[in-house]
Amino acid sequence: MNEIELQTPLGVLTLKRFPVRSGDRLRAWDAADELLINHLDEQQLLTHKDCVLVFDDQFGALTSYICLALAKSNKPVVVDVMTDSFISQQAIIENLTVNGFDSTNSHIRFIDNTAIPDKHYDLVVYKLPRNHGYLADVMQRLRTCLSEKTAVIGGAMVKYLPKNALSLMENTIGSTKTSLAAKKARLIFSSFDPTLQPDNPYPSSYSLEEIDVELVNHSNVFSRESLDIGTRLLLAVMPESDDDLIIVDLACGNGVMGVSAAQLNPNADLIFCDESNMAVASAQENFKGHFPDRSATFNHADCLAGVDPNSVDLVLCNPPFHQQNTVSEHVGWQMFKESLGCLKPGGELWIVGNRHLGYHVKLKKLFGNATLVDSSSKFVVIKAVKR
Ligand SMILES: C[S@@+](CC[C@H](N)C(=O)[O-])C[C@H]1O[C@@H](n2cnc3c(N)ncnc32)[C@H](O)[C@@H]1O
Repeated sequence: MNEIELQTPLGVLTLKRFPVRSGDRLRAWDAADELLINHLDEQQLLTHKDCVLVFDDQFGALTSYICLALAKSNKPVVVDVMTDSFISQQAIIENLTVNGFDSTNSHIRFIDNTAIPDKHYDLVVYKLPRNHGYLADVMQRLRTCLSEKTAVIGGAMVKYLPKNALSLMENTIGSTKTSLAAKKARLIFSSFDPTLQPDNPYPSSYSLEEIDVELVNHSNVFSRESLDIGTRLLLAVMPESDDDLIIVDLACGNGVMGVSAAQLNPNADLIFCDESNMAVASAQENFKGHFPDRSATFNHADCLAGVDPNSVDLVLCNPPFHQQNTVSEHVGWQMFKESLGCLKPGGELWIVGNRHLGYHVKLKKLFGNATLVDSSSKFVVIKAVKR
């Protein structure tokens, strides 16, 4: 067995972690996935089901196993898959395909995590997200799809399972208990209580005096309670022009940089890109709310996928230093390289980042130039021009 083969009670699944990187020794599943899979098998939880929801499956271990188990029953069972991440969605699709399951089959549906699903679920299986506000938001909206007969079962590594996550499940779904720990993971069992009436603060909003806007934020958006201090630095030096520019807000979050750029560049066309569905939905609501008569493009994609080479005048970016739950410099580097490809000659990439990340050196290596535009004790704004 190697690091891409997961032994399950029903056979071996081949699972790759995404994005695929040579030499990456991290696996595409953890002990919480294994615990969930073994529990589903031992309790025969996939028999006599009509509709199953899989929430926050990172790379497709749970979805692939569920499809494997359901393939043995003759009944068409709907499997709804809800994830915020475009990269997770790609991983789930690819891993389903590698294991012989057709993700375009009408029984597998990827559903919007900002909406209320239109189904009743017999079984909800989830990995506990790190962002508990997001968990509460999704669980609160799922209530209309559940009944006392629904089994709601989560899995988490013990180190990411604080007590308040359990009280949050108690308050949004109903009585909640955990299994004993096995390989540092636990299962979380919740019983649906129809009498609960939990509040949901999401989508929430805050106003930003600097650029005189109100910003809507869905629950899994970066900086959803207040403006990031790095972003604040870039907003203060945002370039402005009356030209017909194409401007990309790369890794847009709630779209604050793109909205500010649209204010200062009245003839520009904006493109907003993020791999988080909730980020793209928030950016879209914010742009449309402030510029009802201007069109823009919204890409739920990995970095600049879908943006034409040599087509862009200005890329604005506050790069992430996480990919999924793992700290990684790769994604920032990928964004810089793809920006170079998408910019027109003479086009500019403006980034803001923590000083210690050394973006200046990286941009100089790639673009052959990098100019410090502004700095604070912690952050730098750097501009690089495509020659
Ligand atoms: C530091 S936040 C910046 C958000 C926003 N621009 C701001 O300044 O508030 C980084 C953003 O990168 C997004 N992200 C992470 N990996 C990505 C990828 N591979 N492609 C596109 N966006 C990604 C995250 O979802 C997050 O919204």
